[in-house]
Amino acid sequence: MMEVTVLGQQQGGWPIGGTLHYNDRPGHPLNRYLMPGHALPVSGRPRRPPYTAGLSLYGCFPMPDPAALLVLDARRSVPSRQLGEPGPDEATLLRMLASAVRVPDHGKRVPFRFLKISGDARHALGEFLAERARQRDPAISAAALDKDRQRFAHAPLVITVVASVKPDPKVPELEQLLTAGCVCFALLQAAQALGFGAQWLTAWMAFDPAVHAHLGLADGERIAGFIHIGTPKAVVPERERPDPAGLLQDWTAPR
Ligand SMILES: Cc1cc2nc3c(=O)[nH]c(=O)nc-3n(C[C@H](O)[C@H](O)[C@H](O)COP(=O)(O)O)c2cc1C
Repeated sequence: MMEVTVLGQQQGGWPIGGTLHYNDRPGHPLNRYLMPGHALPVSGRPRRPPYTAGLSLYGCFPMPDPAALLVLDARRSVPSRQLGEPGPDEATLLRMLASAVRVPDHGKRVPFRFLKISGDARHALGEFLAERARQRDPAISAAALDKDRQRFAHAPLVITVVASVKPDPKVPELEQLLTAGCVCFALLQAAQALGFGAQWLTAWMAFDPAVHAHLGLADGERIAGFIHIGTPKAVVPERERPDPAGLLQDWTAPR
């Protein structure tokens, strides 16, 4: 037997609080709920391997968690122009990404990777974008050119979520792209949860082959999004949200 202290309270008869006992045997049904190596507190004996519980259990047991809805409902984008220093440090970024990679992923293909663009790299990319914008449209206005030059200059950090789509007999391309899209959304949530603002942007540069090559994308890779992350300089007003009742229909079989 191994003893793991689980975060949370006893509720509805589920062992979500206090101490959970389980057999430390490969194949034991509880083992899949215990994640190796996560930095959550563990007490008890012994600690090998460093299993921890808490969040991983939390999500697996059918426990109501209305606070999670508050978090989802509070999400809003902060426009990149309104994002400033400080950005997340490396450890904080990795913590965000740890949440972002917990996406539904058909076949566990992990069809995504990240490019971190920060510091001078943002300005270097801006110069390239301006050059490329002029190449695409020699008549481009000075204002449009400057907008492209500055696109990556506002937020201290931009995480490019690259969708690494591969031909797969079981997992269609669309599903791989959707998984990469989920990563973008989860990263927005994680950034906000850690006190940062974020915005998911694309624009022409997300679809331009020359930009792809400049960023080092391989064949079949696409840009799911540029996630701009920083500290909000202002409170962003809420916008009107769709009414889910108006979007919901009962489906009935066609006659
Ligand atoms: C795939 C994707 C690409 C987007 N690209 C842009 C963009 O290039 N420019 C832009 O102004 N907003 C873009 N948006 C919208 C913003 O990320 C954001 O959703 C919008 O400002 C509304 O704010 P909200 O997230 O609070 O609803 C994009 C959203 C998605 C999902």
